[in-house]
Amino acid sequence: MTVEKGYVDAPLPEGIDLVEEIRRLKKEKKAVVLAHYYQSPEIQDIADHVGDSLAMAQYAATLEDARIVVVCGVHFMAETAKLLCPDKKVLVPDLNAGCSLADSCPPDRFEAFIKQHPGHTVVSYVNTSVAVKALTDVVVTSGNAHKIIEAFPKDEKIIFGPDRNLGGYINSLTGREMVLWPGACHVHQRFSAEGIAGLKQEHPQARVLVHPECPRPLTLMADCVGSTAALFNYARTSDAGEFIVATESGILHEMRRSCPDKVFIPAPPEGRDSCGCNDCAFMKLITMEKLYNTLRHELPEVTIDPAVAERARRPIERMLAMS
Ligand code: 13P
Ligand code: SF4
Repeated sequence: MTVEKGYVDAPLPEGIDLVEEIRRLKKEKKAVVLAHYYQSPEIQDIADHVGDSLAMAQYAATLEDARIVVVCGVHFMAETAKLLCPDKKVLVPDLNAGCSLADSCPPDRFEAFIKQHPGHTVVSYVNTSVAVKALTDVVVTSGNAHKIIEAFPKDEKIIFGPDRNLGGYINSLTGREMVLWPGACHVHQRFSAEGIAGLKQEHPQARVLVHPECPRPLTLMADCVGSTAALFNYARTSDAGEFIVATESGILHEMRRSCPDKVFIPAPPEGRDSCGCNDCAFMKLITMEKLYNTLRHELPEVTIDPAVAERARRPIERMLAMS
């Protein structure tokens, strides 16, 4: 069996019940399935653990009994799991599930950027390749970036990459002037402040939930700025009944499932009317068919050059210790 296309392109057995078969294979192969909140509802429902990037890494770090870890998310999430579970087989159902933000930061250019700023501590968002992590002092996620940056002395010189929106947001909270790599996520960059203002007029009581990968005008309009898990927790515990949600639309599944009496309205991306929602095409490459074939054939596997892995693991372990 090959994965020339980046995934196992094998026909499914006739009449197969995918949910049943995936459950059976998980058990038979001692496999644990981790899913991000941006995955499609059926993937979230079949996963053993659903979370934000931080929770996925924290969970991977505690896995003992599993032989296989399947990451239903994008490639950097699978790499992070492999770094934290080097002795386990880590699989991702489609190797093409990349990330525009990680791609906006090629390691050779990031290395040159670091050389242009001698004496700076290098902080990288987890949405980076393993090669960029190997150049990094400490990794952060959107769930712990503020706390980790604040653990450094006020006068620490810091390079923050690759998300200029998250870095700018942390600068605004802390009064720091971290040097920012000019990267962005194509999904979060597209949300429209005018669209949210329009929705706010129609739903004046609604709270506005914004992921920090969104541009500054959106974080300024927000009642809560946070990681997907933080936005979800805010909605769950808030006494408000309506929420405008400016992050990838996959999160709406868990919000609606956990809070059936509350109303969640996807914030519109630029150039569409207010009922449009915003999907990450990379996240949505993971399907039930690909998950089934991955479990069945134990492919595609995520592998990392051991020398790079050793350097990339340190800033992730440092992040987990500081979280
Ligand atoms: P979280 O840190 O909220 O999981 O976000 C990950 C991500 O890719 C956002 O686009
Ligand atoms: Fe990357 Fe953006 Fe997709 Fe998140 S939503 S995985 S940052 S492309």
